[in-house]
Amino acid sequence: MTQRRPLIAANWKMNGSCELVQAMSDALSQIKTSNEILICPPVIFLAGFPKKSAYKLGGQNVSNENSGAFTGEISADMLSAAGASYVIVGHSERRALYGDNDAMVLAKALRAVSANLTPIICFGETLAERQQEKTFEVIAQHLDAVYAAHPELLATSVIAYEPIWAIGTGETATPEQAQAVHEFIRQHVAKYDVVESEKIRIIYGGSVNSENCTALFAKPDIDGALVGGASLKTAEFTAICLTAQD
Ligand code: PGA
Repeated sequence: MTQRRPLIAANWKMNGSCELVQAMSDALSQIKTSNEILICPPVIFLAGFPKKSAYKLGGQNVSNENSGAFTGEISADMLSAAGASYVIVGHSERRALYGDNDAMVLAKALRAVSANLTPIICFGETLAERQQEKTFEVIAQHLDAVYAAHPELLATSVIAYEPIWAIGTGETATPEQAQAVHEFIRQHVAKYDVVESEKIRIIYGGSVNSENCTALFAKPDIDGALVGGASLKTAEFTAICLTAQD
């Protein structure tokens, strides 16, 4: 089986402060883990992070345009220049609140890759879709929209499965529920590229914390986590980073 290096990614959303930047940087510099650690703070804090090998930095969103009259937008090149090596695209909050659809998500992912950023492409079903047993159908549609036209993205992206009903709600998917979807995703993308389907990291997001992460990370197709609320507390986030060791 292909060894996939676990990725533990913090999504600070519109939270954080210069004090948290310093405290998180210090805390992460003091732990030893073979996992890859990533912080995605609001973009204004990127440059304030001391350059350390203990963690990488990422954006939470990127423009689908390169440059020009796009007030308020930030390009992939700018993120890269500010120290980012990853960017989250298609987070459910962007999809729900800012109209990011699959076509936009694909455009953003392609921009990211062209600036040498690794896109973390997020998908997930709503509670209604899960109750109607449409989870796999919905996930397959999202995957097809990105990877059918651009299977080369499999080698240069990370997939985040984030059931919308589990984000910020305190309600986590059970490890079995999450594993079932992760396995489905891996099998589905194997249609595009068998080799890359084994290599691509599929991380889970939705109310991950230091208590529930052990059982999630024990599942064979869960390659890490995208952590929201729990990533704003240094002790909690470092505990998750340490738990995910293989
Ligand atoms: P949560 O957020 O951990 O607070 O549920 C996860 C995310 O939205 O990426």
